[in-house]
Amino acid sequence: MAEDLVLLNALGVHLVLIQSTRHAIDSYIRDQGIANTYQGHRRITDEALLNRIIEMAGRNRLIFRGLYMRALHRNRGRSSLVSGNFVSAKPLGIHEGINHKLTGSVRRIDAEGIRQQLEVGSVVYLDHLAHSPAGELYNLASEEVAAETAVALQADKLILMGETPYCVDQQGGRVSELALALVGSIRSNQNDEMSRRLDATERAVRGGVERCHLLGTGLDGAILTELMTTEGTGTLIASEPAASIRQARVDDLPGLIHLLAPMEENGALVQRSRDKLEAEINHFYVIEQDGRILGSAALYPLDDKCAEFAALSADYATTEQNIGTKLLRYIEEKARSNSLQSLFVLTTQASDWFKERGFMMSSIEELPENRQALYNLQRNSLILKKEL
Ligand SMILES: CC(C)(COP(=O)(O)OP(=O)(O)OC[C@H]1O[C@@H](n2cnc3c(N)ncnc32)[C@H](O)[C@@H]1OP(=O)(O)O)[C@@H](O)C(=O)NCCC(=O)NCCS
Repeated sequence: MAEDLVLLNALGVHLVLIQSTRHAIDSYIRDQGIANTYQGHRRITDEALLNRIIEMAGRNRLIFRGLYMRALHRNRGRSSLVSGNFVSAKPLGIHEGINHKLTGSVRRIDAEGIRQQLEVGSVVYLDHLAHSPAGELYNLASEEVAAETAVALQADKLILMGETPYCVDQQGGRVSELALALVGSIRSNQNDEMSRRLDATERAVRGGVERCHLLGTGLDGAILTELMTTEGTGTLIASEPAASIRQARVDDLPGLIHLLAPMEENGALVQRSRDKLEAEINHFYVIEQDGRILGSAALYPLDDKCAEFAALSADYATTEQNIGTKLLRYIEEKARSNSLQSLFVLTTQASDWFKERGFMMSSIEELPENRQALYNLQRNSLILKKEL
C-alpha cells in the first residue's frame, strides 16, 4: 500500500492518511481478558487503555513511516510524510448516563494547515489521538476523523479501508456502486465494521465529498485497482447516480481517442484523425464517470429539419449499463429542443440496436443532398432514420 500511495502522490494526487488502531486494540483487549469496552459503536476509553492505545498508535505510525521511507527510496520519490496538530478534540461526554471518559470526538480540523502541506507535495498523516485545546488527549474514532477531514478539505474522495472488502447485497454478492440515497436499503446486510464505515460515508457525502470508496485491506493493490479500473474491487458510494452526460471539451481528446480507437480499428466507426476530432469537438457529447469517459456520441446538423447521430460508442471495458441508450435519449432530447424532426444514423455493425430503439431502414436518397455527396460507398453503411 505504501508503494501505491507513493505512486499516487508522485502523480499529483493529494493524500491525507488517517490511521486506525481499532483492530490492534480489539486484539489487545481480547488477549488481556478485559471486559467489552464498547457502548454501541463507541469505545469507552479509560486512562489505562488510553496509555496502551498511545503505545500502539505510536508503534503503527513508526512502522508505517518505515514502509513509506522504503517505498519512497525504491521509487526515487521525495515527498515528506507530515504529522501535526491538525485535529483538535473534545470529550464525547456522557450519553444515556454512560461516561465515555477519554473517548473524544472531532472539535475542529485545521483544513488550512493541511492544505499548506499538500500544496508543497507532502503527504499528511493523521492518527486518531488528538488533544483538546486544554491539552487533554482523547481517543477518537478513525472513521470520524477521516470523514470530518474529508469534509473540511472538501476532498474529491474518501477511501475507507477495513477488513471487509465491500458492501454486500441480500444474496451476499458485492455491491460495486450505490447512490447515497440507496444506502439504507443495504444497511441491514452489513457487519458492524462496515456499518461504522457507512456512517462515516454518509457524513462525508452529505458534507459535500462526492465519492466514497469502501475497500478491503487484504487485497494487494486495492486502491489502485479501485481508482484506475472501471470495475474496481470495493463499493463506491456516490452523491448521485454515477455517470453524467455533457458536451465534450478539447481536454477530453485523449480519452475520446482512447475510447474510439478500437471501434475504428474493427470498422464499427469511421476513422477520425485527432485534428478532425478536435475540429468537430463541439458536436460530441461524452458520458463520464469519475473523470473517465465511458461513452460518446455526436450530433451533426444536416439541415434545419434533420441531423445525423454518429460516433455512438460505449467503452468495451465498462460494466456500466445502458451507456448507449442513455446517450441516444440525451441526444434525441437535444435534437427535439433544437426543433429537429428526424435523426439519421449510418452504421455498419449496430443496425439492430438502432431498430430496437425506434429507427427504421432508410436510403441514400432520403439523406439531404449535402450528406449524400459525402456518403462513403466503400464503408457501405446501412442508413436508418428516426422521426422524433
Ligand atoms: C452500439 C453500442 C453503442 C451499444 O452500447 P451499450 O452501452 O452496450 O448499449 P445499451 O447498454 O444501451 O444496450 C445494450 C443492449 O444492446 C445490445 N447490443 C450491443 N451492441 C449491439 C449491436 N452492435 N447490435 C445489436 N445489439 C447490440 C446488447 O446485447 C444489449 O442487449 P441485451 O439488453 O439484450 O443484453 C456499443 O455496442 C458500441 O460501442 N458499439 C461499437 C460502436 C458502434 O457500432 N456504434 C454505432 C455506430 S454510430
